[in-house]
Amino acid sequence: MEFRDVIYSRRSVRKYSGQPVPDEILEEILQAGLAAPSAVNLQPWYFVAIQSREEREKFNAVMEQVGEKVRAELEERFPNHPDTVAESQRFIRSLGGAPVVILGFCYKEDYQNYEDDALESVSAAMENMLLTACSLGLGGCWLTAPIQTGLAPDIQRTYAPGKGRLVGVLSIGYAADGGGTSPKRKPGRYVIL
Ligand SMILES: Cc1cc2nc3c(=O)[nH]c(=O)nc-3n(C[C@H](O)[C@H](O)[C@H](O)COP(=O)(O)O)c2cc1C
Repeated sequence: MEFRDVIYSRRSVRKYSGQPVPDEILEEILQAGLAAPSAVNLQPWYFVAIQSREEREKFNAVMEQVGEKVRAELEERFPNHPDTVAESQRFIRSLGGAPVVILGFCYKEDYQNYEDDALESVSAAMENMLLTACSLGLGGCWLTAPIQTGLAPDIQRTYAPGKGRLVGVLSIGYAADGGGTSPKRKPGRYVIL
């Protein structure tokens, strides 16, 4: 796929077909993350890819809790759109049946002077992964709901003790029919001087 097509066809996929992700594809996605730029070459990332059925079931139990906790926040944000609330909550609870979930941690949290830089570096790696998934015919969605709902410390303890704080979660897989659409971009968000 042309790079430009990847950029403009990527969208958040919240519903996945049951097709598994081959190991070599998952490796390629993870490697693309490591190829990202990082502040003063910190490479401050640590990723946990959850792929086996057993591990996914275990993580889905965590996401059930996230889904419960996020409801109030969604209701506040979308008071007139109960369908949006229900759909968002459903996705968060089930991750749309994603066959792979990648947890991104900011490994170098002890670099006090570089806290923002490290966070931005991990984010760059996560975007690389989403774009690579798209270029390979897969889709994904970035989630911070587990962090917003206060479950990050539990996830850190369980999946990556000592490896820093959870920055985000990516669901990855082949999109189910349609998969979803990307919202329109807001105008006036750049200037050329
Ligand atoms: C930092 C970050 C956090 C996000 N958290 C969530 C989330 O918790 N749940 C969700 O459904 N989507 C989440 N998204 C996806 C956004 O809703 C999505 O990117 C946005 O609506 C634009 O749509 P698009 O990705 O299809 O272009 C997140 C995206 C980013 C970059």
